[in-house]
Amino acid sequence: MLNSLMLCVSSSFVSVGASSGIGREVALDMAKRGARVITASRDEEKGLESVNYIKNLSKNSSVFWKKLNLSDLSSVRQFAIWFTSCEQRLDILINNAAIAYSNVEKTVDGYDLCFGTNHLGHFLLTELLVNHLKRSAPARIVIVSSLAHILVPGPLRFDKGDEDTLYPHLSGYEISKLANILHAKELARRLAQFGVSANAVHPGGVDTELWKGMAYKWPPWFCFLIRMMVKPVLIDANAAAQTIVYAAVDDRVKTITGRYFEKCSLARESIQAKSLSVAKKLWEVSSFLTGLQVHTLPLEVNEPRVVDCTDKTNQTLDRE
Ligand SMILES: NC(=O)c1ccc[n+]([C@@H]2O[C@H](COP(=O)([O-])OP(=O)(O)OC[C@H]3O[C@@H](n4cnc5c(N)ncnc54)[C@H](OP(=O)(O)O)[C@@H]3O)[C@@H](O)[C@H]2O)c1
Repeated sequence: MLNSLMLCVSSSFVSVGASSGIGREVALDMAKRGARVITASRDEEKGLESVNYIKNLSKNSSVFWKKLNLSDLSSVRQFAIWFTSCEQRLDILINNAAIAYSNVEKTVDGYDLCFGTNHLGHFLLTELLVNHLKRSAPARIVIVSSLAHILVPGPLRFDKGDEDTLYPHLSGYEISKLANILHAKELARRLAQFGVSANAVHPGGVDTELWKGMAYKWPPWFCFLIRMMVKPVLIDANAAAQTIVYAAVDDRVKTITGRYFEKCSLARESIQAKSLSVAKKLWEVSSFLTGLQVHTLPLEVNEPRVVDCTDKTNQTLDRE
């Protein structure tokens, strides 16, 4: 288990998907270490409730929420414009948000909901924040994946499809979680010389809101059966947060990049998740699908910047 006593005073930390479940516990842990914590998710009420929860338990007042919908690439761009205009540094980025089941099939941009949200949304966000990470180096990116990535049945298929459904085989929760690991590998390769590391994590099985959406896909009896089957191996959200925090702050991970962790240790990913050529191909496809040009790191946010840097509670975001 994590035994790092590292403090993050004056470190700036962004946790995507911290309004509930594992991400909220990660943000709480970082707030207790003294970091300036910015949480980002879709639902304002949930997001602000989570900020209050974190502030109350951590006694850290530098905890903020900002709206971000990873299922809508224009929302990702808006968040990045706000962040890069209002915040001076970014030491740790945690890409934790995910959706597994929904009554909606596609993202706003027309991509498969799981792949588009869990991978493409985080992919674009990371690209748009990468210059802040480089400026804050040594900096870390942690991408929350899942053991479920091993369930991807065969090689990833990159058939382009047609205009209505681009890359039709890049879909589903398991593929999105495989993409998370491949994303970390390619980021690690691209960012090593800049002092920015990128690792992926399986947090462990937790009974969170992620599972509730199962009802959209299967009948109640089947959902009940699955829940009963997995119950004995479930851990609580705080325990699941440990490996993410470990990858984010522990000294033992300082020089490690492009790896996959479970239970605060290096773990084995699937053979496909190790493939640097698949990681590179996925990067190119993701750049295309998110409207970024291939081979153009560092990337800038090319949009007009009229940005309000006050937060929802009308506090001016105090800079250290
Ligand atoms: N629970 C498990 O058993 C388990 C196992 C392995 C891996 N994981 C991984 O752990 C991570 C956290 O999962 P969790 O179990 O804590 O799930 P959760 O409780 O459902 O939390 C998911 C978070 O993602 C946010 N989110 C969902 N869709 C979003 C979107 N379109 N844009 C922005 N934020 C969005 C949610 O906030 P809003 O709804 O407010 O937007 C919420 O904060 C995920 O990456 C998941 O794949 C979980």
